[in-house]
Amino acid sequence: MLRAAKRFFSLRLSLATLVIISFSLYTIWHLSETRTLSSPETISIPTSTPIPEAQKIPKKLWYKLGPKGLSDQSRAWIDTCLERNPDYQHEFLTDESADVYVRKHFSSRADIIETYFNLTIPILKADILRYLLLFVEGGFWSDLDVSCEEVPIGDWIPVEYRNSTGMVLGWEFDVGWFRRQFATWTIGASPGSRHMAVVIDDVLSTILRLAHEHNCTIADLHMDMIGDVIDVTGPVRFTRSILASLKLDYQGIIDIPTVEPVYVPRIFEDVLILPGYAFAEGINKYPEGHTYGPKLVTHHYAGTWKNEQGGEVD
Ligand SMILES: *[C@@H]1O[C@H](CO)[C@@H](O)[C@H](O)[C@H]1NC(C)=O
Ligand SMILES: *[C@@H]1O[C@H](CO)[C@@H](O)[C@H](O)[C@H]1NC(C)=O
Ligand SMILES: *[C@@H]1O[C@H](CO)[C@@H](O)[C@H](O)[C@H]1NC(C)=O
Repeated sequence: MLRAAKRFFSLRLSLATLVIISFSLYTIWHLSETRTLSSPETISIPTSTPIPEAQKIPKKLWYKLGPKGLSDQSRAWIDTCLERNPDYQHEFLTDESADVYVRKHFSSRADIIETYFNLTIPILKADILRYLLLFVEGGFWSDLDVSCEEVPIGDWIPVEYRNSTGMVLGWEFDVGWFRRQFATWTIGASPGSRHMAVVIDDVLSTILRLAHEHNCTIADLHMDMIGDVIDVTGPVRFTRSILASLKLDYQGIIDIPTVEPVYVPRIFEDVLILPGYAFAEGINKYPEGHTYGPKLVTHHYAGTWKNEQGGEVD
């Protein structure tokens, strides 16, 4: 009798233990589930184990077509990139397929969906789209008016940084400008980059703030309320957010004092920053007689830039 009672109690005890363990497991599972929910569904949470080099920045080129599709000129520029990087996949998105993509991958981020789909200014959406795509899948974003030079994309990252690079950026304004600014016509990123998450959050809150300041909905925001697009979704916003994410002193790195130009790529955490000659050789003026690294892309400033309604011209 006593033995039976003992057994009964020990069974109760193990049942209780089981319940506690299951509850803890559930809690852990639930917590990790909540964490997954706040990022897009296809992204696995970055772990602390190093990602093999080949998987860090996927070999994929992203393009977004304007409402008129692809001009012959753009096609020729894009072909230089595709021909020189035969091992890269590429994907063209249209307005429609971009909308489908965002809806699918950010269904768990109501803030992103609400902002993206309420926005009526195409140029802002085009800016945001590149950050979203790169956050989901990674790869290289390229504007339609960018052509590639000789060096294949795989060789853009110096060998010593290949294992540690999760993002590739180049200065648009570097030498001879009073402020540095990253180019956003070419951006390389690994999926789920936390720096890109900072950019996205920063852009969203900036747009919400503008709507609030103008006492209107996001849908009612017009170009004349936006001020300068580059400060809202474009390169200035992007530069600020990335540097904030890296905890780099914005003024220190952005305001260019009278220092020697930087001739070599530099890495901050996992962000590789290429000198101005890499993505914007034509607009950075290096001292006469100096040799510097190869230019990697040429941006042709072909007017995919804003018109008065903030639409794309191309
Ligand atoms: C990069 O990682 C690979 C594989 O882990 C290793 O063999 C290689 O030596 C590393 N390269 C550098 C430059 O650290
Ligand atoms: C904001 O807009 C609403 C309706 O559009 C209006 O009723 C309200 O008075 C406005 N508030 C301010 C502070 O302008
Ligand atoms: C987005 O659009 C919906 C539907 O028109 C509206 O109810 C909502 O307030 C808008 N959100 C913002 C933040 O403008």
